[in-house]
Amino acid sequence: MKSSKELMADKESLVTKINEAVQYIKSKTTRQPQIGIVLGTGLGPLAEQLEEVTSIPYGDIPHFPTPTIAGHSGRLLIGELGGQCIAAMQGRVHYYEGYDTAEITFPVRVLDRLGIKTIILTNACGAVSKHFAPGDLMVIEDHLSFFCPSPLRGGNLDEFGERFVDMSAAYTPELVKLAENTAKELGQKLQKGVYGYWHGPTFETAAEIRGFMALGADVVGMSTVPEAIVARHCGLNTLGISCITNMTCIYGTDGTNHEDVIEVGNQVSEKFIALIKGIVEKI
Ligand code: HPA
Repeated sequence: MKSSKELMADKESLVTKINEAVQYIKSKTTRQPQIGIVLGTGLGPLAEQLEEVTSIPYGDIPHFPTPTIAGHSGRLLIGELGGQCIAAMQGRVHYYEGYDTAEITFPVRVLDRLGIKTIILTNACGAVSKHFAPGDLMVIEDHLSFFCPSPLRGGNLDEFGERFVDMSAAYTPELVKLAENTAKELGQKLQKGVYGYWHGPTFETAAEIRGFMALGADVVGMSTVPEAIVARHCGLNTLGISCITNMTCIYGTDGTNHEDVIEVGNQVSEKFIALIKGIVEKI
């Protein structure tokens, strides 16, 4: 068991690591991003729309976790999009890769220290609700974190936020509205619902999906929730947009696989990018 002194030392070492990562990024660009975007499956090509980009491989940033799976390239891009300076994370890491949730969310804290005010978290997910279909986009109204070890466990990082974090408006209601209005203007259908976090790397059993349904989830996925929790701890405005890549197994599909997730993600890429760009322009 760790002593309270050791817990305090862990916390101080985490803050030092965050500061070192921030200093490194600041040595590469003098730009001051206002919005952070985590680019999930299907959104990687958004990177090509950025102007005046500084591209930094995660591996070069001190202490930054690096992705181990296909479809997540691992670069931090700082540039202009829709008249705003943004920091885009091309690729993220997940709990199932072996990182703990504090490590997964390290980049969110680094972006916060770089000065962003808003974070947009995107992901691919499976539909629990029968009203959704592959290829739909969904704005996250709320989440279920029951299967997510808290990224805030351990000594509280007081310089970021309080020990006990209010999650009653985990996803900023004004941003949810903004996403809905933007989709309307673009003539896009946008679903709204609850994202259930699943630790992975297995896809869910039918019983697990029925459990999620009973708990009130509309979709399930293996990311975003730890990042949203830390974003709220930091006091960031938070928006989540999901791309539904598959119906989950209760719908009699012949199993879920990563290739289908990537394929559908790529098919919706264009409309996903248009929506995110439209939102960024209005923030
Ligand atoms: N379950 C969990 N994560 C996912 C899924 C799913 O069905 N699809 C894409 N990511």
